[in-house]
Amino acid sequence: MNHIAPGRNAGVYSYDDIDRRFVAERVEQFRAQVERRLSGELTEDEFKPLRLMNGLYLQLHAYMLRIAVPYGVLTARQLRKLAEIGRKYDKGYGHFTTRQNLQFNWIKLEDTPAILHELAEVDMHALQTSGNCVRNVTTDQFVGAARDEVVDGRVYAEILRQWTTLHPEFTFLPRKFKIAIMGSDADRAAIRVHDVGVFAKRNERGEVGFTFYVGGGLGRSPFIGKLIRDWVPEEDFVAYLEAILRVYNQYGRRDNIYKARIKILVHELGQEKFTQEVEEEFARLRGPKYRLAPEVVDEIRRRFGGPAFETLTDEPESFQAAKAANPDFARWVAVNVLAHKVPGYAAATISLKPAGGIPGDATSEQMELIADLADAHSFGELRVSHAQNLVLAHVRQDELFTLWTALEANGLGTPNAGLIGDIIACPGLDYCALANARSIPLAQAISARFADPARQQTIGELGIKISGCINACGHHHVGAIGILGVDKKGEEFYQITVGGDPTLTTAIGDILGPAVTADETVDAIEAIVEVYLSNRHDGERFIDTLKRVGHGPFKERVYAAH
Ligand code: HEM
Ligand code: SF4
Repeated sequence: MNHIAPGRNAGVYSYDDIDRRFVAERVEQFRAQVERRLSGELTEDEFKPLRLMNGLYLQLHAYMLRIAVPYGVLTARQLRKLAEIGRKYDKGYGHFTTRQNLQFNWIKLEDTPAILHELAEVDMHALQTSGNCVRNVTTDQFVGAARDEVVDGRVYAEILRQWTTLHPEFTFLPRKFKIAIMGSDADRAAIRVHDVGVFAKRNERGEVGFTFYVGGGLGRSPFIGKLIRDWVPEEDFVAYLEAILRVYNQYGRRDNIYKARIKILVHELGQEKFTQEVEEEFARLRGPKYRLAPEVVDEIRRRFGGPAFETLTDEPESFQAAKAANPDFARWVAVNVLAHKVPGYAAATISLKPAGGIPGDATSEQMELIADLADAHSFGELRVSHAQNLVLAHVRQDELFTLWTALEANGLGTPNAGLIGDIIACPGLDYCALANARSIPLAQAISARFADPARQQTIGELGIKISGCINACGHHHVGAIGILGVDKKGEEFYQITVGGDPTLTTAIGDILGPAVTADETVDAIEAIVEVYLSNRHDGERFIDTLKRVGHGPFKERVYAAH
């Protein structure tokens, strides 16, 4: 089982001394700022921008620290450190987010310098996880592993991380800025609901280029990103993004926080005018200074290393036998395991969504166990998915059964990746001062109602996404079933939408009818599922049945009792 030595931590960008010195200096700077806040020398108002530069938010009950997991890739050693911090400074758990980061919800201000110092020991930090800057660039959680991958998105995400960190022009943007990159035809990173969504692809000569979508986003005014350029050659990647950010910096609405995101600018200027502005700026930037040289790309790729895969064949006998002998394992493989580009390997999703559990939470013990499993089975590396699960991306197929047995014994073997129990939920009223309603208990009630794995598998692909208010942190607009917490005379109610889609065929869901209570919401989901099952054609997904039969039958059934 232990074959980790050659490729240990392969696939994770290795810091150099400059990176380390920079992070260490920032920790010391923040330590002094916290001391000045604690002594009263700084007021909360003066301190706020300083703490936000370091990922520290003030929530309903406590400080929350959001830690960057660049493009969702972590080492086992880093995960162990997160587990330790959770135990030492929080309540023994952490929360993985929809942007592939990790949050601690119960942090004490006076502990934050020590936490950041400990994080720096494992090359981690909380920079650019809040504030009006370019946030963590996200990508496919199966990057470097998926069989359908065309370009390794990590390399370009890392280039953007380096380029945007402390970029003087992009530290005070009109509003926060979120970029996602995909390197295959499938969209596993919700590209078109990002400020900038990029598809990396190859032309017939094998050269890398990028398709740019701009102005997507959720929140109070949801927009789907617009295509502004189909092919930007690799060497112009940075220049083109710089041009987009410059146009945004110049014209973005700083006068009104609700209109400050780039989606509003693209909407107000119109796709054509916005594109023209970007192209003009891009023409000015097309000098050697902004050209991304092939040597730079190669050097960054080299610093990721590569797992030392063995030469194996797909579907080894022991794997087949284990599936045949154990239907629960076979189900987990069918639902949570993805084909790998290297024969004999697979990418396994570790669900952080047990029936009745809190979506995206992991205890320190679970994190430690997963770190050990990553060391034993996946070259000491793992990923955070935007669906708030973890992934071991490079597992030998003949080790999947051992892996599953360990996961299953620790409540981590839930076979529901992409199914109805794999709910995305924002923190809601349990943590968030902006919330109208709780999200987490509703997610727990729904996943408990649909606990039966066989039933979930029968229902098939169906994403439920819950936000506690219109800011849409839980992406409810793009849930096949979306749930939005609303306030009705001081009571928690939920508005249900259907037909949302976060993939390339992006769609914003439509409101089904009047908002209902939490209990009624769980019944409504059940009713929607029943209508779907009784109407679907063979192999048809929920959203396809919905498209074919329309809202009518769903609405009728959900509101029958009203
Ligand atoms: C509890 C503290 C939180 C507060 C006060 C908060 C507040 C907000 C606000 C005000 C927005 C809208 C910003 C805008 O569109 O300009 C937003 C968006 C967002 N938040 Fe949060 N948030 C919180 C926690 C979280 C957490 C824990 C996650 C991840 C699980 C999250 C994920 C997101 C995402 C993905 C968006 C972007 C939606 C978009 O594309 O526009 N937030 N948040
Ligand atoms: S969607 Fe609203 S309730 Fe949920 S975390 Fe975001 S701001 Fe808070």
